[in-house]
Amino acid sequence: MELTRDMRDMLDGKYGEGASLALKVQVGIGECFDAPRMVPITNAHVALSNQEADLWFAEKMVKLGARTKIPPTVNPGFCLAYFEEKNMVTEEEADHMRRTHEAYKTLGCRLTYNCTPYMDTNIPFPNEIIAFSESSATPYVNSVWGARTNRESAQSALCAAITGVAPEYGLLLDENRKGNILVEVKSRMEGDFSFNLLGYMGKKIGPGIPVFTGLGDYVSPEAHRNLGAELNTSGAYGMYHIVGVTPEAPTLEAAFGGKKPQRTVVITDEDFERVLEKEISDPGGRKIDFALFGCPHTSTKELLHIADRLYGKKLAVPLWIMTSSLTKSNAGKMGLLDVIRAAGGDVVEDTCSDQPCWHLYKGKVGVTESPKCAYYPRKRGLEFVIRDMDTCIDAALKGEVE
Ligand code: F3S
Repeated sequence: MELTRDMRDMLDGKYGEGASLALKVQVGIGECFDAPRMVPITNAHVALSNQEADLWFAEKMVKLGARTKIPPTVNPGFCLAYFEEKNMVTEEEADHMRRTHEAYKTLGCRLTYNCTPYMDTNIPFPNEIIAFSESSATPYVNSVWGARTNRESAQSALCAAITGVAPEYGLLLDENRKGNILVEVKSRMEGDFSFNLLGYMGKKIGPGIPVFTGLGDYVSPEAHRNLGAELNTSGAYGMYHIVGVTPEAPTLEAAFGGKKPQRTVVITDEDFERVLEKEISDPGGRKIDFALFGCPHTSTKELLHIADRLYGKKLAVPLWIMTSSLTKSNAGKMGLLDVIRAAGGDVVEDTCSDQPCWHLYKGKVGVTESPKCAYYPRKRGLEFVIRDMDTCIDAALKGEVE
């Protein structure tokens, strides 16, 4: 790989051992993909996970004196003050989160603790070269905002934030951003929830860049969020196109760059039913213990909807809604938190579903509107029935799901 004198100096340790190691990691990745050079980035998002390997790498970088040149936004762990006060985490778990916080703070990250930065705190421009990790964030910034990032890992995105560059390959280049799979959507699309199910068709769609047709001419921000999150729960996708909706797909021809699709996949109602009933959801028609929303983080529009549905009512089981501190703060000003709390629910900031703070629900059954929310916590022993948001709200009010 061709490196500038400055890059070579960085590798040789002129800017410290941390920057040198970060660049070494990136050169290794770049060489695997035949990247000819490094290019500057202007934005980054790190999918911090507050798990062992994540903390190991962040603390290693701290010990080596690294500091981010492009301060990235970061994913959620869990809200320490909230869960400590409620006695829902052990001392060891709290200490882990504290160390994660300290490490990322020392590295100079923007401690947003939010997995939907593309909705408010970190919105890139079209064609901007960036380094984003996080399953819903990468496809969103590529597909919806027209920015350019590869599907970075938490560690490679952190390295890019430290060095300020990324290897030039893959989705950074025009020729690799064209679609190659035509996905004809013939299933009924009923609101944002249907995009969760469409995203979960990753196994049927197969590897590549899908080009969706049949989705009309408006797709909401929440629907894009759901589609990207689930595409990367059921498969691995850095980008998609929706003809007539996303900026690099004004027409079918433009989406494929004038080439023919390698294959065509048709999505039907039967696909949705099969995936929901047989693959991702526990069976319904049962009592539930809790409801969990916000994986990826809930938007202001959704909080408004939930508060409207809960106004003046009482929940039969606890309802937890995860969101960013910014959205929570706005919801407070809008009076939505009062309504949700009066019903017996709560809004939790900075928190992810895949965290130890939820272990009180081990062996219990919850409802959620998100297949991703069901997927990760399952390994911690939580079970979920997946339904659209209104059915989940009704279930939380009744204590049972249809
Ligand atoms: Fe966000 Fe964690 Fe879900 S990062 S998308 S809440 S698994």
